[in-house]
Amino acid sequence: MAKAFKTLDDIGDVAGRRVLVREDLNVPMADGEVTDDTRLRATIPTVTELADKGAIVLVLAHFGRPKGERRPDMSLAMVTKPYSQVLGRPVRFIDWDGAEEAVATLRNGDIAVIENTRFFAGEEKNDPEMVTRLAALGDLYVNDAFSAAHRAHASTEGIAHALPAFAGRAMEAELDALEKALGTPRHPVAAVVGGAKVSTKLDVLKHLVGKVDHLIIGGGMANTFLAARGVNVGKSLCEHDLAGTAEAILDAADAAGCTVHLPYDVVVAKEFKANPETRTVNVHEVAADEMILDIGPAATEALADVLKTCKTLVWNGPLGAFETPPFDAATVSLARTAAALTKEGSLISVAGGGDTVAALNQAGVADDFTFVSTAGGAFLEWMEGKELPGVAALTR
Ligand code: 3PG
Repeated sequence: MAKAFKTLDDIGDVAGRRVLVREDLNVPMADGEVTDDTRLRATIPTVTELADKGAIVLVLAHFGRPKGERRPDMSLAMVTKPYSQVLGRPVRFIDWDGAEEAVATLRNGDIAVIENTRFFAGEEKNDPEMVTRLAALGDLYVNDAFSAAHRAHASTEGIAHALPAFAGRAMEAELDALEKALGTPRHPVAAVVGGAKVSTKLDVLKHLVGKVDHLIIGGGMANTFLAARGVNVGKSLCEHDLAGTAEAILDAADAAGCTVHLPYDVVVAKEFKANPETRTVNVHEVAADEMILDIGPAATEALADVLKTCKTLVWNGPLGAFETPPFDAATVSLARTAAALTKEGSLISVAGGGDTVAALNQAGVADDFTFVSTAGGAFLEWMEGKELPGVAALTR
């Protein structure tokens, strides 16, 4: 089937052409070192393919949120060396002063990183002058940064209208996986939505109830739903003021034929710290001075049985307070079930969001999922059913 967007397969002969490649180089750093190079590695297929075909590869990216100021602590100069090590090739750094002249000295197959696009206020405003300045540096545009595609910025959206625009390999893989997960998925579809607060994921939940067959709610958010159903959740994290909203979501799920799974046994403790004294209890037995910190083993097993009946899984957010042992048990266990089903070939599993990737890594199963997105905000907006401007601009 023809894709809705052009890819590197459609780009033609790039030898000697200046290709502006929008990547997400917004990596975590501590003491000058990149602490997680996943995003750098994600760029390898696109950047090396273009360079090997003789293109002059000009990487455009943001770093942090400098809000239009030139801030040395947010300079992409710091990322250039680690990036070069990840690529295994030399990478030039090009500052905005004299950028045009510097680009003119590059040769076929060279790779350069251009300084933080957010050093100009026009970037976030998607200002036409900024678009013109960026577009003048290249002949072709490739967007490979799904994780920045929820931003309608000059380098993610505006420029796609100014130059012939293509999706890079990472973007293409991401869009293909997301299409399989929620666009035209194989049913039954399950979604796991966890995390601390319902308020941050209301739109996700509202969208998903009309899309999936099973909605599994975990994390602190589940407490809000339990409380809305009259369960006494003790001193658990809970947004009591959202009881009405939670009920409306449960009603919408009912009307759409979506089964919502809330835990019926839970792990509770009186203190939130590593390895405190815990009890595993029925949700109706939580004491006033206890808090729910994970889903219990019986509910986790029941959820595993649900996944065994499903063909597609979308996962965002942990089921418990997974950073603090032993409250990672349910997340790790269900993630392992999902990974095993994926390996067997019975489940397509797509996961995304910052905490989710960390949780899957902790369970040691990130590589066994069909696709794990490195996107945070963009993944959530996609789960909300929103059109992402950076993706829309690539669509034919
Ligand atoms: C991210 O880190 O999720 C992306 O790089 C987008 O960054 P932003 O939230 O600052 O736009």
